[in-house]
Amino acid sequence: MDPLTRPRPILIRLAIALLGPLLLALLFLACGREENAARPEAPAPPPAPVAEAPAPPAPPKAEPASAETRATYQWYCAQCHGVKGKGNGINAKWLTVPPRDHTKAEYLETRTDQQLFDAIQQGGLAVGRAPCMPRWGDTLDEKTIHALVRYIRELCECEAI
Ligand code: HEC
Repeated sequence: MDPLTRPRPILIRLAIALLGPLLLALLFLACGREENAARPEAPAPPPAPVAEAPAPPAPPKAEPASAETRATYQWYCAQCHGVKGKGNGINAKWLTVPPRDHTKAEYLETRTDQQLFDAIQQGGLAVGRAPCMPRWGDTLDEKTIHALVRYIRELCECEAI
């Protein structure tokens, strides 16, 4: 009999009949396992909120200068420093050293609040500046001078760096 057409022995046929479904079952199992294996690799859970440093609160915005501070500036400073602080007051052209432009951040950034305070309280000479910046310590109290420093920071839209 032709070996190809000869009926296979029963055991082999049984084996083939069983092996097919078995392989399929294995494949499913494997896939299932793969799925299970993949699960732990899923994107790591977001870090616990405790670990995250809380965003620092925005620094409190400085209060804009009060009407009183602006009036003080207009009364005592504007004749030299200008109505808008641009250093072009009515008196400016008579001074040997031009009054400081209070809107210029490039310069004012290089001065600390304390230096500005001292310049106003004790005059230009006290901080190594021209004496035509008068001293105001006898006219204005410290609170007013601090407020003027804040106002100048508002004019230059700058802080000491
Ligand atoms: C008589 C004119 C005059 C008046 C009034 C005047 N200043 Fe000045 N001020 C000057 C001059 C001039 C300078 C520049 C000094 C320099 O650069 O050497 C100056 C500089 C300054 C500076 C910068 C100091 C620095 O570190 O360079 C500040 C701040 C200032 N004035 C604040 C004031 C304030 C506030 C008032 C009002 C209370 C005032 N000034 C009134 C003339 C004046």
